[in-house]
Amino acid sequence: MAIERIVDAAEEADEQEQELEQTLRPKDFANYIGQERLKKNIKLAIDAAKKRGEPLDHVLLYGPPGLGKTTMASVIAHEMGAQIRITSGPAIERAGDLASLLTNLQDGDILFIDEVHRLHRTVEEVLYSAMEDFKLDIMLGKGPSAKSLRLDLPKFTLIGATTRTGALAAPLRDRFGMIHRLEFYTAQEISQIIERAAGILGIQVDPVAAQELALRARLTPRIANRLLRRVRDYADVNGDGIIDTVISTKALELLEVDELGLDPGDRMLLTAIIDSHNGGPVGVETLAALTAEERSTIEDFYEPYLLQIGLLERTPRGRKVTAKAYTHLGKQPKTNHIESQPSLL
Ligand code: ADE
Repeated sequence: MAIERIVDAAEEADEQEQELEQTLRPKDFANYIGQERLKKNIKLAIDAAKKRGEPLDHVLLYGPPGLGKTTMASVIAHEMGAQIRITSGPAIERAGDLASLLTNLQDGDILFIDEVHRLHRTVEEVLYSAMEDFKLDIMLGKGPSAKSLRLDLPKFTLIGATTRTGALAAPLRDRFGMIHRLEFYTAQEISQIIERAAGILGIQVDPVAAQELALRARLTPRIANRLLRRVRDYADVNGDGIIDTVISTKALELLEVDELGLDPGDRMLLTAIIDSHNGGPVGVETLAALTAEERSTIEDFYEPYLLQIGLLERTPRGRKVTAKAYTHLGKQPKTNHIESQPSLL
């Protein structure tokens, strides 16, 4: 399949969309809606670090894409009054690339590495002593005449982001002083995020329409903001630019995003489990084959939300659809597959 999905939480590929998303990102905690527990923990750590006059401990942020890991890193930098350098695991190809990034930092700076689980092993090893002792070990030359050199590094803070902590090597994970999971937002928080974005972009949205959009945005700010822009396009072409409930319903129908935020890809996945595998359980490899998607795409993009809203269930023998999924798809559940359903006999 691998078609472009309106409800895909991956970063915007389009440069213009990326820029728009940037303008919507909150700069500080005061404007950051949601993730209350995380904010409380990080605020405390920031206050403590400031009081001691030390850099913030290294932070690992994990969770499904689109929930604001990069935004949180920028907010942390802002709150610390620090500079942030943003890069990603696959972008750092050689140990030398990391060495140059690290030596160009200043005391207190933040280095943000997105997709930190995709760092090359040789790069990762350089990071260990950098994180632990703020030292850079470099080898000069090769063979018997090789010499190792230890350089002092500025006292920086590493913020790593990953979709799954399980994908991270234990020695790297252990070097983060704080490990936090970003949670899905509540529909109410998403609604507030949509209203805030509409205010910034100068879009008029009826509060009920904002709520409807929020329910279909997979509890994910990046998707909420994208839906808002697409529905605005529809409102500009088919109306006077104002997003009311009539416009939003019609636009969402056209975008094929249903009341639970599922798109044809999700519905196909659930239907395949029901029709070809009696509702499951099925292994994730089977799901990948059924949908012609990568296993990691299933695990990172499709599954977290379907699990969160209770359409899919993880069991030791694989993934199973729930009674709610049957109902949502208008299919008749087989009673012996639905444990929670009381017997009619
Ligand atoms: N835009 C994207 N994520 C946001 C958040 N958490 N709070 C406010 N605006 C946002």
